[in-house]
This record gives sequence, structure tokens and C-alpha cells, in this order.
Amino acid sequence: MIKQAIIPLAGLGTRLLPLTSVFAKELLPINGKPGIEYILDECIEAGIKEIIFIISKKKQMIKSYFYNDIFYKKIIKKKKDPRIIKEYKKILKYKKMIRFVYQNKPLGTGDAVLKTKKYITDKYFLMLLPDDLIIKKNCSKSMINIHKKLKSSVIASMKVNRKSVNRWGIYKLGKKIDKNNFLIKDVVEKPSIKKAPSNQAVIGRYILPKIIFSKLLKQKPGKGGEIHITDAIQLLINQNKKFVAHNFSGKYLDCGSMQGYINSTLEISKI
Ligand code: UTP
Repeated sequence: MIKQAIIPLAGLGTRLLPLTSVFAKELLPINGKPGIEYILDECIEAGIKEIIFIISKKKQMIKSYFYNDIFYKKIIKKKKDPRIIKEYKKILKYKKMIRFVYQNKPLGTGDAVLKTKKYITDKYFLMLLPDDLIIKKNCSKSMINIHKKLKSSVIASMKVNRKSVNRWGIYKLGKKIDKNNFLIKDVVEKPSIKKAPSNQAVIGRYILPKIIFSKLLKQKPGKGGEIHITDAIQLLINQNKKFVAHNFSGKYLDCGSMQGYINSTLEISKI
């Protein structure tokens, strides 16, 4: 069973400037609720019991958001507002599940993952990138079911516009397992249109094997001088480790870009 999830939150969020100059993008409201809460709710509904947040000193406000008990208690004493009491209980529930680790230099997603090494207890764990919201169907839950069946690593995927392949991790399709699931032959981080093996992109939900840490420990920086999780995945694929691409059926919302962030509120308000 997959019981642990990790969430990298130590990036700079430059695409959302000026909103992120003093504020953590994951706390920005999407239809009245911080983006990170959608991700937490997805984890809880998928049966996750422990969540590791990778933050940086600059993003300490994310921890403060979950550790503001005294403030809530004072307010609730004075005002018996049932809405505030409900919100407080929800935050307490999240707090109990979250552990915080630090990545103070944004050296890449692979480096962020490495910071969780000593806390991962099982053979596989889930990773969610908080910029990627998937609504209408719980993607993590579907991926955990596939993992149970195939006993392999699983990555969420979708087709993207060919012109935009240089923004994504792109993979080469291998054998078809069924209608929505394929083996991954190769994966490459942000390729040029010429070098892209397809227009199938990796989206921010991964079920990763614990052995990935052994690759990350030795990994040199790749594209843009960062340590990418996709490069570590490729090293495991080279050793015939099975990675399944799951074409999820929910709706993808990119909350990491300004246009995408604005659009996500509009889309969620329609549900
Ligand atoms: P991105 O590189 O897509 O986003 O990282 P960013 O760095 O936060 O924002 P931009 O590109 O400057 O606008 C994907 C995810 O990985 C985390 C980010 O917080 C984001 O959730 N990340 C990235 C880390 O935790 N550490 C890193 O070193 C890099």
C-alpha cells in the first residue's frame, strides 16, 4: 500500500510574480481555498497517512499556516462562529499528517526529493507537484490502484501541444498495457521540438520507488543546472525498472503560470 506522499514546495514561483514576491504560491486562493488544500484533500481521499512537505526558509509561511493554533483558539473563544471552528478542525487534521523538511537552495525537483530520504519507510511513495491540480477525478487514487495491480512505478501523463514540449518532461511510449496505461521507454526533461520523442508529457503525480534515492545521491545537474527527477527516472528505466504512464481522466489545471492560475479559479467555480 502507498501510505506516504511527498510534496516539493521549495521552488521560487517566479512565473507568478508579483504575487509570489512575499507570498507562497501554494497558499494563494483558488476559488476561496489555498491551492495546497486541494492537493492535501486528494492525498487524504487516496488513503495517504503521512505527507512530507519540502519547503525552504523563505517559504516558512506554509508551516505557519498549519501551526497557527493559538490564533484560532483565541478567536474561537470570543466568536463561536461554526465556520471558523470547522476550518480550525480541518487545519488541525492536516497538521497531524504533515512533516516538514527543508531545501534551502532550489537545486531542482530531484534534490528536493532527496531531502525526504530518511523519512520514506515503504518501497514506494507518492509525489505530487502542487502547481498541477487535477480536478473531477482523484488522479492519485487511480494511480495507487494501478500500482496495486502492476506493482510498478506510475506517472500521470497527458498529450500536450507539440509546440510546447520544451516546457515538460516528455516520454517515449512503450508497450500498451490497456486503454489508459503504457510502459515508458525513455523520458527527457524539457526537450526541443526536434529532439522530443513524442508529445506525451509527464504531469505532477508520481508513484516512485524508494531505490530512486540511490540514483539521486549520485546525480549531476542536468538541464538548466538543476537536478531533475526525470533524469533519475531515466537511470532506473535504463536498468529495466518498470514505469507506467497513466493517462488520467480528470481535468488538468496548471496553477504555476499566471494565465493558468487565473483560469483555475474559473474552472473550479464551475464545479
Ligand atoms: P517548477 O520549477 O515548475 O516551479 O517546480 P517553481 O520553481 O516553483 O516556479 P517558477 O518556475 O520559478 O515559476 C515544480 C515544483 O517543484 C518544486 C516547486 O516548488 C514546484 O512545486 N521545486 C522546484 C522544489 O521544491 N525545489 C526545487 O529546487 C525546484
